[in-house]
Amino acid sequence: MRVLSVLSLILGLATFPSFAQQAADTTAPESASPATAQPDGPVTAKKWMISAANPLAAKAGARILREGGTAADAAIAVQAVLGLVEPQSSGLGGGAFVIYYDAKSGKLTTLDGRETAPMDATPRLFQDDQGEPLKFFEAVVGGRSVGVPGTPKLLEEIYKRWGKTEWKSLFDDAIALSTHGFAVSPRLEKLVAKDAKRLVIDPLASAYFLPGGKPLEVGNILVNPAYTESLTALATGGSAAFYTGDIAAAIVEKIRGAVDNPGVMRKADLATYEVKEREPVCVPYRGNDICGMGPPSSGALTVGQILGMLAPFDLAALGPDDPASWQLIGDASRLAFADRGRYMADSDYVPLPVKGLVDPAYLATRSALLQPGLRLEEAKPGTPKWDHAGLLADDEAIELPSTSHFSIIDQFGNALSMTTTIENGFGSRLMVAGFLLNNELTDFSFRSHRNGVPIANRVEPGKRPRSSMSPTIVMKDGKPSFLIGSPGGSRIITYVAKTIIAKIDWGMNVQQAIALPHVVNRFGTFDLEKGTKAESMATELEAMGYKTKVRDLNSGLHGIVVSEDGLEGGADPRREGVVIGE
Ligand code: DON
Repeated sequence: MRVLSVLSLILGLATFPSFAQQAADTTAPESASPATAQPDGPVTAKKWMISAANPLAAKAGARILREGGTAADAAIAVQAVLGLVEPQSSGLGGGAFVIYYDAKSGKLTTLDGRETAPMDATPRLFQDDQGEPLKFFEAVVGGRSVGVPGTPKLLEEIYKRWGKTEWKSLFDDAIALSTHGFAVSPRLEKLVAKDAKRLVIDPLASAYFLPGGKPLEVGNILVNPAYTESLTALATGGSAAFYTGDIAAAIVEKIRGAVDNPGVMRKADLATYEVKEREPVCVPYRGNDICGMGPPSSGALTVGQILGMLAPFDLAALGPDDPASWQLIGDASRLAFADRGRYMADSDYVPLPVKGLVDPAYLATRSALLQPGLRLEEAKPGTPKWDHAGLLADDEAIELPSTSHFSIIDQFGNALSMTTTIENGFGSRLMVAGFLLNNELTDFSFRSHRNGVPIANRVEPGKRPRSSMSPTIVMKDGKPSFLIGSPGGSRIITYVAKTIIAKIDWGMNVQQAIALPHVVNRFGTFDLEKGTKAESMATELEAMGYKTKVRDLNSGLHGIVVSEDGLEGGADPRREGVVIGE
């Protein structure tokens, strides 16, 4: 963020509080950062707002919002640009979840555009001949890990439900950028350099990210004619142009033809893909309803469990500088992650006690295990009330960085919170038609059973891998009051819970809440954010008996607060995000 602020100054662009951004120049290569929050100060606005992980993507969304489009329209424009300028994180080859508040009906809807396992996938997909789990990257790189993408159909679905602007025009900015070029960002340069040895496996990925054998450099102007063609097909033919026809054929050929690690996807898997509407999961917390994505995401359930367990404790009195706050948050997270590992998966395939897991009486029993200042010895799964009977073993799944989150409010009061991903940075490393294919299937447990007992999140044909993505809308008195979400693998859950606590309990503005250093505990060890004051928690947490580890904690939180005073937006200083509003 600081870097971007400086960049903005150099480029002579306004940064704070908010300003009217010119419509995108559709002929020139673009690199400018349009607006960004200051380290401590949010961007403010009255009518509409967008917070997203890349300035060019935010700018495309802002144009749609300024011209009278809805949050759904803007999301389509944002995703189309993100797939180009942040190709390692999300795109047409991936999946996403959306939570949408429709101001007219007052209804909150969650849509599941998660990838599915092909019908020929079996629980042994990520096991060797002896039934032992493959190493993570052996599974990721190649065709085996690719799930049927959900993002193109999800974009069409949100448009059908809530779109207003002409569909075709929503792709204009992305098409202009892929045709005329955009400047490679510092983050893209860094990530390409780090991943060069894997990107070489695919000729198209290699030619695009390592032209002439050299990794892309910041400021290089990158054009992507294949992406222009794919977007044009989507703009003119709708999602059918993606799920059937030339693009679908190219996807299947690439996956099945991957030299070392072919996958089993067929054209029929693509042609039958469906977005699913799910029941939003809402959990009360200090007079608010924390609403988000239910299964196959573990996001809203786990965030809700953490907050529900913390409700009896006076975190406001303890404050963010007291390690006792983090000890309670950390142990609540450990208990929630224990339930997540045991119970959470695609509820279309496994009986899942959704209501039981966030039932206030159950959370009270879990909360009673927490003691201020005293480390919880062992975090075991609990026994929530079952909707159905079931017996499951604890899960095993590995997740690593990419993904993007954006939040949007339009001038009509509609609100959208969307987390979008191709899973690992650069996904499966296979490129088709100008975009990367996901490796989302490695979000399944590689083991299918433990001591003969099945694992809920095992691979099954047509199933959706468990996610941690937590696009959230906090509701207050029936209206959206806070939109938030993040990338970060399973740490997403802890980033989102922390940001909600920082806002609600510690009274921080959205930018402070996002920037607040991360102190994360999922499985016993506290991760303390490197280079921040979180490091100073180590001594006291270790004295309580915890292990600690100082490390980068690369969230990408993008949030908007809605109040009677207007809109207040924050963007994560750990990435390249910006807020634009009017
Ligand atoms: O759905 C999930 O939970 C993961 N595939 C998200 C991956 C992710 O956030 C990587 N993060 N930086």
